[in-house]
Amino acid sequence: MKKARITGLGSYLPKRILTNQDLEKMVDTSDEWIVTRTGIHERRLAEADEFTSDMGVAAAKKALADAKLEAKDLDLILVATLTPDYIFPSTACLIQAGLKAKHAAGLDIQAACTGLIYALSIAKAFVEAGTYKNILIIAAEKLSSIVNYEDRSTCVLFGDGAAACIVGCEGEGLEIESVCLGADGEQSELLIMPGGGSRNPTSAETLEQGLHYIKMTGSEVFKHAVRRMESACKECLEQAKMTEEDITWVIPHQANERIIDAIAKRFKHLSSDHVYKTVHKYGNTSASSVGIALDELMEEGTVQKGESILLTAFGSGFTWGAAILKKIDGAQK
Ligand code: ACO
Repeated sequence: MKKARITGLGSYLPKRILTNQDLEKMVDTSDEWIVTRTGIHERRLAEADEFTSDMGVAAAKKALADAKLEAKDLDLILVATLTPDYIFPSTACLIQAGLKAKHAAGLDIQAACTGLIYALSIAKAFVEAGTYKNILIIAAEKLSSIVNYEDRSTCVLFGDGAAACIVGCEGEGLEIESVCLGADGEQSELLIMPGGGSRNPTSAETLEQGLHYIKMTGSEVFKHAVRRMESACKECLEQAKMTEEDITWVIPHQANERIIDAIAKRFKHLSSDHVYKTVHKYGNTSASSVGIALDELMEEGTVQKGESILLTAFGSGFTWGAAILKKIDGAQK
């Protein structure tokens, strides 16, 4: 049986830049605080009339071109997002229409920042079972739509953006060696948007209380994020019968530079430029973060045939996961 592989990649970042200096004028914060605590210098924000599905379509078009496929070749669209255009219909259906991918089924996946890795696991299973040939995964977020720009503890962290990849079983690409996933629903209150669902339907009261914004207990989330991503990496390596030394590139979830550096310590043989970072320029783009970083790393053209890339992510739920990808013949973009 052929292993599933990523045969095309793409990403999209909105043009508008929100710098730390801009945030200094909005809340009681400083460039120094933000850079020291998070490593973030700036982040991108979508326009008022630019939505998660629009960013998803833009990233998807690039991934399709990279895979030399047309939208009509797609069998399934998986969209990882916690900022869908609507609660329903799914953003996957909106993107299916936007791409005119008439033969594709579609569904959304809600695994917060780990969504892309959850989607990879699902796509790998479908492709290797022979159910589908070409699956489009999109991770897209308009986090600015649920960030409270009066709450300095969260508004400095998040940005908007999208990533896309095509998973198939033929040709050049990044072979998916192993994927592992985890969750702990006991910790759901630590990172949550409490309003707008069936528990707290939107009302004047929920709006008054700001329940439609992200709430995060940052220091607790930090500790869990490091521990869970470290264990996910270990489990994924064991599953692939590999060791840390077999990994050439690491892409952790781009939430905070200190978290990335803590993960990097496990990979002592790697120089710092092999632990890939985009957090300084895009902030935390949730589900899109590892996908955007992977697309930029492959664009740089430095990944060699036979080298392995380890992705790991952590997010609300809590959810976490890791995936190992290996470059096979000609995947260079
Ligand atoms: N500017 C200035 N001061 C601030 C700011 C700010 N933007 N934000 C918070 N502070 C203050 C706090 O009020 C607090 O002040 P106090 O000591 O007087 O009470 C102080 O700074 C320290 O606050 P902490 O929250 O303890 O700061 P910490 O060092 O933990 O950094 C941060 C906060 C950056 C949020 C960090 O905890 C973090 O990155 N957490 C993890 C986030 C993450 O990984 N999320 C992943 C999933 S995201 C998803 O799923 C959508």
